Amino acid sequence: MSDVDAQKRASGEAAAELAESGMVVGLGTGSTAAWFVKALAARKLDVTCVCTSVATADLAAGLGLRIAELGETREIDLTVDGADEIGPGLSLIKGGGAALLREKLVWEASKRCVVIADAAKQVPLLGKFPLPIEVVAFGHKTTQLRLCDALAECDIGVAPRLRMKDGAPVLTDGGNVIYDAACGRIEDPAALAAALKSVTGVVDHGLFLDLADLALVGTVDGVIRLE
Ligand code: 5RP
Repeated sequence: MSDVDAQKRASGEAAAELAESGMVVGLGTGSTAAWFVKALAARKLDVTCVCTSVATADLAAGLGLRIAELGETREIDLTVDGADEIGPGLSLIKGGGAALLREKLVWEASKRCVVIADAAKQVPLLGKFPLPIEVVAFGHKTTQLRLCDALAECDIGVAPRLRMKDGAPVLTDGGNVIYDAACGRIEDPAALAAALKSVTGVVDHGLFLDLADLALVGTVDGVIRLE
């Protein structure tokens, strides 16, 4: 296993220790979240899980975890999920796995959100990782032009690129497309978040601000806590 994978695994396993029987637990998406799901299943607790993607639901169901849809349970007690960048104040970029909308819906329905990651995800300023933006498929090329304007309002002069795989646009679990904006530096994440949300056709974006309560980051010296 690579060092990065070992750090992801350690952070996922540390987060699994936060779960208790009787909890409703939100399950994130991605390779780090998968370590959490596996560690949670191994604990054999009596928990009900709300998943942030079809891929995570398939993994969790295969491991014998009880699954419920968002809204079918009382409030979610704990959600654990990965991130593409962890910036100041636990501001995050998420959506590298194209699950940002379901992730944000589950995070916002949770009492406590814990982000898990390898050490390379911690950054002094958000923006090196291209910011994913989920856009309604209908008319998305027109929406892309409006997105350029919204980014320019925030002094970010880039054109977001349609995410492609195998020659076709990547579709999210909700049937939307993803544009990635290589911002470089995001000096004012809150202003950018507001500008992007104001564009008709934008479903949501990967800036997760004021949502994470705790980060468990795997490092060469073990898992560190950021609060
Ligand atoms: C999916 C996400 C993931 O949590 C993020 O991309 C991190 O992935 P990984 O743990 O595989 O590095 O936001 O939409």
